[in-house]
Amino acid sequence: MAASLGISMGGSAAIGLPSQRRLFSLSPAKLVSRAVAEKGVSAVELDLSVRVNGLQLPNPFVIGSGPPGTNYTVMKRAFDEGWGAVVAKTVSLDAAKVVNVTPRYARLRAGSNGSAKGQIIGWENIELISDRPLETMLKELKQLKIEYPDRILIGSIMEEYNKDAWHELIERVEATGVDALEINFSCPHGMPERKMGAAVGQDCALLEEVCGWINEKATVPVWAKMTPNITDITQPARVALKSGCEGIAAINTIMSVMGIDLNTLRPEPCVEGYSTPGGYSSKAVHPIALGKVMQIAQMMKDEFSNRDVSLSGIGGVETGNDAAEFILLGANTVQVCTGVMMHGYGLVKKLCEDLKEFMRKHNFSTIEEFRGASLPYFTTHTDLVRRQQEAIKQRKAVRLGLQSDKDWTGDGFVKETESMVSN
Ligand SMILES: Cc1cc2nc3c(=O)[nH]c(=O)nc-3n(C[C@H](O)[C@H](O)[C@H](O)COP(=O)(O)O)c2cc1C
Repeated sequence: MAASLGISMGGSAAIGLPSQRRLFSLSPAKLVSRAVAEKGVSAVELDLSVRVNGLQLPNPFVIGSGPPGTNYTVMKRAFDEGWGAVVAKTVSLDAAKVVNVTPRYARLRAGSNGSAKGQIIGWENIELISDRPLETMLKELKQLKIEYPDRILIGSIMEEYNKDAWHELIERVEATGVDALEINFSCPHGMPERKMGAAVGQDCALLEEVCGWINEKATVPVWAKMTPNITDITQPARVALKSGCEGIAAINTIMSVMGIDLNTLRPEPCVEGYSTPGGYSSKAVHPIALGKVMQIAQMMKDEFSNRDVSLSGIGGVETGNDAAEFILLGANTVQVCTGVMMHGYGLVKKLCEDLKEFMRKHNFSTIEEFRGASLPYFTTHTDLVRRQQEAIKQRKAVRLGLQSDKDWTGDGFVKETESMVSN
């Protein structure tokens, strides 16, 4: 992404400017499309396609690892409905070690105070990685690549702290023909004692070693999926990129306790009277995910703009506008997991329509035209104070007009006169 993010930043800074100045940064082709849009003719075809680490996606919407990519039937459905890519449910070598419980989900509804009504805004899961035999998952991935050779299928993998195990898993998953690998360094619950998932993503030394093993073996692009359950997410993201990964995916779920049943005094989700902290997702995590993605995007722009590295934004996406926000921060693709569990695979059509609507409104014809456009507008709090004081000073100056006759200038004479007229 480095090169493209760099380009995008140049163009996008201009895009964020008032329309008059924006025009100067547009190519002749775009000026034509703008003119057409301004005439109210909707003849200009909007292009949602994205190219990431050499992979061509019809749109930036990717199924995030989880139940929506758990078997052949559902992944096929995702391709048929038009998702830009699918990240399969995370697999490991020995599925027999993965034992799930039920219930394993709990939901938070807005303004409901415990009632079953109200919009779902938060979702906690204590689900582990795939509990299906690896051989079965591999056969299904292979079948999907045979049936959909032009579509992007990404294998998600997680293993114990063991180089040979990682190498074996990579070899077997790559043999199915998947286009890329996403490494689950981020599962917040289950198996930390086996140094799996977030246990690696939260320990930069361990992460560097494991990324080294992975990148000496993998022959397809590797995305490192980050946990938000860490003070500074840019640290593991930087380590993963320095260790050879081609992309960062963020965020996985946020460590959470969904609630306590005030009748039984037991935590939720309650399994035989007990619970364990789980992973929080859905709408409620969206602002937190945007914050983490913003930090990673800034770090990538500052430190990796000489490499083709990519960023996949994840967390609480249910609308095209949610996705546009991730892209405006610099994400190349946007993943959706819980949104699909709530609204179904057809959601992608609405996401594409929403995103096109946003693009039409701003006269963007490609994703790359606005990717990263909002990133330059983050600064420090100290700088905000400076900017505000300066703005107040200017507003006061305008309101009060000239302080003294010595302030009259030849060039600004008419404006200066205006500034002292009362009506
Ligand atoms: C039920 C459930 C299971 C999940 N399983 C996985 C998994 O196997 N591997 C993984 O990398 N992420 C997994 N995730 C995390 C999602 O891919 C995603 O990072 C997170 O839920 C935030 O995105 P969302 O708000 O769109 O769901 C799971 C999420 C949920 C809700």
